[in-house]
Amino acid sequence: MTHSVSLTVNGQDHTLEVDGNQTLLETIREKFHLTGAKMACEEGRCGACTLLVNGNAVASCVVLVSDLDGATVTTIEGLPSEGELHPVQEAFLGCTALQCGYCTPGMILSSISILDKEPNAGENEVRRKLSGNICRCTGYVKIIDAIQLVQRDRQIENS
Ligand code: FES
Repeated sequence: MTHSVSLTVNGQDHTLEVDGNQTLLETIREKFHLTGAKMACEEGRCGACTLLVNGNAVASCVVLVSDLDGATVTTIEGLPSEGELHPVQEAFLGCTALQCGYCTPGMILSSISILDKEPNAGENEVRRKLSGNICRCTGYVKIIDAIQLVQRDRQIENS
């Protein structure tokens, strides 16, 4: 059975027909050809498929797109603005917080969600909240460094 679903993806409105069992990840990769989010564990356990839905980090491989009518979805491709990388992307680059890069889109989107919801979260809290995102290269120290760099930059901006 198909469903008509309206989505705003990276700031653009779309209405599409989807199968009832189609996941958000399949839709984003196959219909929108946005392939930053990865098809990995397919069980919502590794975070490689993380997307922002209404600002919340979700494992898109276990979310049915038919349940998202009216939702706003942000992918890694939608982060740059006017040719500039998002500050969290800049921080990941500046801290060399990526190796193979497989986890990086999901890590960055989860980091944005953490920073937006709990801008002053301490290191342990950040690590706990990021625990759903696995880095196969085990580059966690620099990933945490990048998040803390954004926290410090925002504190300076707001002081
Ligand atoms: Fe390789 Fe994280 S950088 S999986």
